[in-house]
Amino acid sequence: MSSAASSVSLDVNGFFSHMIGSYGLDGHDLERIEARLAAALAHLDAKRLAGDLPFYDLPYDDDAIAACKGLAAELRAEFDTLIVLGIGGSALGTKAVLEGVPAASLAAGMRVVVADNIDPATFSRLLGGGPGGVDLSRTAFNVISKSGGTAETLAQFLIARERLLAHPAVGAARWARHIVVTTDPARGPLRALAAAEGFRSLPVPPGVGGRFSVLTSVGLLPLAAAGVDIEALCAGARHADTLCSLSDPRANPAALHAGLLFLALREKGCAVHVLMPYSDGLLRLAEWYAQLWAESLGKAHALDGSVVETGQTPVRALGATDQHSQVQLYVEGPRDKVVTFVRVDEHDGELTIPGAYPDKEEIAYLSGLRMGDLLNMEQRATELALAESGRPTSVLTIGRSDARSIGYLFHFFEVQTLVMGALLGIDPLDQPGVEAGKRLTYGMAGRAGYAADAQRVQSMLARKRDDLVLG
Ligand code: PA5
Repeated sequence: MSSAASSVSLDVNGFFSHMIGSYGLDGHDLERIEARLAAALAHLDAKRLAGDLPFYDLPYDDDAIAACKGLAAELRAEFDTLIVLGIGGSALGTKAVLEGVPAASLAAGMRVVVADNIDPATFSRLLGGGPGGVDLSRTAFNVISKSGGTAETLAQFLIARERLLAHPAVGAARWARHIVVTTDPARGPLRALAAAEGFRSLPVPPGVGGRFSVLTSVGLLPLAAAGVDIEALCAGARHADTLCSLSDPRANPAALHAGLLFLALREKGCAVHVLMPYSDGLLRLAEWYAQLWAESLGKAHALDGSVVETGQTPVRALGATDQHSQVQLYVEGPRDKVVTFVRVDEHDGELTIPGAYPDKEEIAYLSGLRMGDLLNMEQRATELALAESGRPTSVLTIGRSDARSIGYLFHFFEVQTLVMGALLGIDPLDQPGVEAGKRLTYGMAGRAGYAADAQRVQSMLARKRDDLVLG
């Protein structure tokens, strides 16, 4: 795919034998997978038309975009800081955009902090008034949970609530004004609390799972509050949709990439997919992608109930930093990886390396190079080094790291994930393994209704042998 309008391109040469020799795929491999890809696309299209895949249409939801912009403007008028309380799909997309867009584009917004972990050291520092902390009287909290019952998010909410109630400038009269809830429109504990306490709230549309929800109010409210151009974000996703809904798999970038990743997994033993942006700001996008790919595809059972224990392990790496850490393994280690680079044509804050030491050849060659161009040369060099050692790669190139490009990549990766799910024959929209861990946590924490899970914890811990615990 390549288009001036999107300024996003996908180069898949690195999968094929003309680039990587005998370890690569050839035209026949592509032909073999083509009919399956076309069937997967037709299946997704039918589900979309039936309303079963509402994430596809999120970037067209002008009402939701307007509601988020309106509430964001209210929050900006009342507060300086917005703290997002949420985890997994309720946090990672927002973080990806906040770090991926040019810093200057956030200047018009309020400070938005995503608190997506329950490490008390981090959370107490954030809520304290010291360096890096916030002034609670000028801080709102966006409590985001699709289910409304996630322990981490509710724990954060309870601590924030107590601090607000105890604050002399907030207290019982004002604390509810500091809370905005984003959750299921009808169900769950947070929805009930929002009604009972009179919190402002936004809905997460039914049928949109956490990791597909960045373009709902989950991401759009905090991003609008931060000053991100959420219309450009959605425009990028809409543009991706025009290409990623094409029925011809060779023209559809999400389908083609999914098909090649599937062949790499099944026929070349590439159990690991590395996403390696050459941009500090896009490392969070790789984290968002890691959740999407891992949680959607890592499944024990196929749709027919058979045991498949499938998936492809996502790894996030950062260029050029990880050239000096991971790339040795990628070039010479086990042939179990496919690497996708994200390359940025025009870097924000570009710098020119000054000329100096003209008589020292080992230094002088850098003079006059743009730093971003050097970064891009490093990307190309890593790609070609991998090709020379017969390792598959692909390259996503974006014109700039901005809201539009990131919106494009969100949609592209989401469709790619659904196509891969169809090829693997699993349900990419559920996450039974995550639910299992949640139940055990509830059991340990003494939640009513989870006594059997508490017992499972006890009986498993009782199996531990002391001689295997050292120190
Ligand atoms: O993608 C998912 O469904 C998960 O990662 C959820 O986003 C995560 O578990 C948090 O769930 P919730 O939004 O219900 O609090």
